[in-house]
Amino acid sequence: MPFPTTRMRRLRTNPRVRDLVRQTHLRPDDFVLPLFVKTGGDPTPIASMPGQSQLPLSALKTEAAELKSLGVPAVILFGLPDSKDSTGSSGGADDGVVQRAVGELKSADPDLLVITDVCLCEYTDHGHCGPLNDFGDVLNDDATELYAQQAVSHAAAGADMVAPSGMMDGMVAAIREGLDAEGFSGVPLMSYAAKYASAFYGPFRDAADSAPQHGDRRGYQMDPANAAESLREVALDLAEGADVLMVKPALAYLDVIRRVKDAHPGVPLAAYNVSGEYAMLKAAAANGWLDHDRAMLESLLSIKRAGADVVLTYFAKDAARLL
Ligand code: PBG
Repeated sequence: MPFPTTRMRRLRTNPRVRDLVRQTHLRPDDFVLPLFVKTGGDPTPIASMPGQSQLPLSALKTEAAELKSLGVPAVILFGLPDSKDSTGSSGGADDGVVQRAVGELKSADPDLLVITDVCLCEYTDHGHCGPLNDFGDVLNDDATELYAQQAVSHAAAGADMVAPSGMMDGMVAAIREGLDAEGFSGVPLMSYAAKYASAFYGPFRDAADSAPQHGDRRGYQMDPANAAESLREVALDLAEGADVLMVKPALAYLDVIRRVKDAHPGVPLAAYNVSGEYAMLKAAAANGWLDHDRAMLESLLSIKRAGADVVLTYFAKDAARLL
């Protein structure tokens, strides 16, 4: 029935009615906060990510307590190792920075869900996501073996979930097999399944000191022009044993989030609201050009509305404070 029988504004005028008919909700439970961890020193603020710091192990107890008080249930850890080499061996060391951080966080709050990012770019001296051949190309199958070993060391340290982000072919299968062989068949795997070669990772690479020293990641991360291809990526990761899928970045890829959710409605879907997406909004707000809180909540809501069940975001604490 058209106007005047139907008046859409009837559902908008009264704020109580608006609340009642809202179709998407944000809750602190939706969020995973990324943390950058280092072994010692003081917290180092990350210039391009206002409000975020590289945190020493000694700061993690306080961080865990703050997350608990805000109701943020989960973190994902990125390591800043004390040393780097060509194969990223510090990434898989039992006393590595992430392995120790898992221990610190789980002892501070056993209820905190601790997810670990599994990759090598933070641990290799050349900044690529796996060891290289003589021509500077990443050795795919060697990388996946190293990811499996790293994931096992994270699980042994007490990680609740592992999240491979290297975009190597077969990485999910290799990690699943490695975990199962070592008695960690109960540890779920969240795959960065559709991860694009994005300019929006810039601030993260400063924060994690993981910029490639030569070349770029277009040989393994997806071409931003390709949406349908994401369906092949996620189908493969599911077949290899991924429990949770991820699309990354989020805001420039809302169409991909929707496609993946529609293709696999029964699979939990995460989206990563990445460093550049965070930095843009912080910069605009600092200039007084955008209302920080409203633009933040609208962005996070858009990611859920597109189909994400879980949002990895540096805004987790800011948003939880408002919700
Ligand atoms: C590492 C990794 C990256 C991010 C998460 N894991 C960077 C990259 O691929 O270069 C980016 C996260 C962000 O920008 O917030 N493989």
